[in-house]
Amino acid sequence: MDEPGAAHGFTSVDSQTRPGDWVTVLDRVAAEPFYAAYKRRLRELLRPTAGELFLEVGAGTGDAARALRARWNAEVVALDSSLTMAARARTRGLARAVVADGHRLPFGADRFDGAWADRVLQHVADPDRVLDELLRVIRPGGRIALADPDYDTQVLDIDDRELARRVLRFRADVLLRNGTLAHRQAGLLAARGLHDLTVEARTLVVRDPSAVDNVMGLRTWAHTAAARGHVDPADADRFVALYDDAVRTGRFTYAVTFFLTAATLPE
Ligand SMILES: C[S@@+](CC[C@H](N)C(=O)[O-])C[C@H]1O[C@@H](n2cnc3c(N)ncnc32)[C@H](O)[C@@H]1O
Repeated sequence: MDEPGAAHGFTSVDSQTRPGDWVTVLDRVAAEPFYAAYKRRLRELLRPTAGELFLEVGAGTGDAARALRARWNAEVVALDSSLTMAARARTRGLARAVVADGHRLPFGADRFDGAWADRVLQHVADPDRVLDELLRVIRPGGRIALADPDYDTQVLDIDDRELARRVLRFRADVLLRNGTLAHRQAGLLAARGLHDLTVEARTLVVRDPSAVDNVMGLRTWAHTAAARGHVDPADADRFVALYDDAVRTGRFTYAVTFFLTAATLPE
């Protein structure tokens, strides 16, 4: 889903040992039907019309931006803090791929008809600031759409609920900067005077981790927690054994809910 076992890879893709691996992660995720469907819905929530101009912040490889451009014949600027990502977006045909930090958008006020950020606010240092920047560059009456998983909603069925909870909590509170922000995004937009506010929830259910586990890194979370002193190493070993047992016996179930939040700026 996000990091292949490493913490905060998406906070600075270019400084990772192999930045190109993170492109592969995004490609694998985008190919999953769950992701493709919610990403399509997120674009619909922007209510694009032909000729309008949109901004995606944290656009990654730019595939969603290209999809919006193709489906609605709208203009799109894809912005990402990673050179690797922006270069890939350009290679894939997105001329307007910009390298910049979402905390300081290099655009004047009211420039865009709408903007979105998909699985980005969970990674940034100051989500309030990124949100303020997004709103600054959207015109009055324009649209904003945000999507993130909320790791407070995680459940995992292994044969030790307390251990599962400890590892999931580490994932929510330590591995991600803002892992539990998603259910609060509506509140952040309401506090900023936006209206027409909607929240949609979509739950990712993983029954066969072999399909996505190399991407999600779920099996490795306990050892990452142990390496950082949050879980006893023996408990980490036990977590992996219970995890494998759950897979072998067919009981394995992991779920996390994504929130899609959209709103209209005041005129
Ligand atoms: C999980 S990926 C999501 C990419 C894309 N939105 C998608 O759904 O496929 C997060 C992206 O946000 C970018 N990112 C992280 N921090 C950022 C920041 N402060 N400003 C702009 N982009 C950022 C990362 O480089 C990465 O490409």
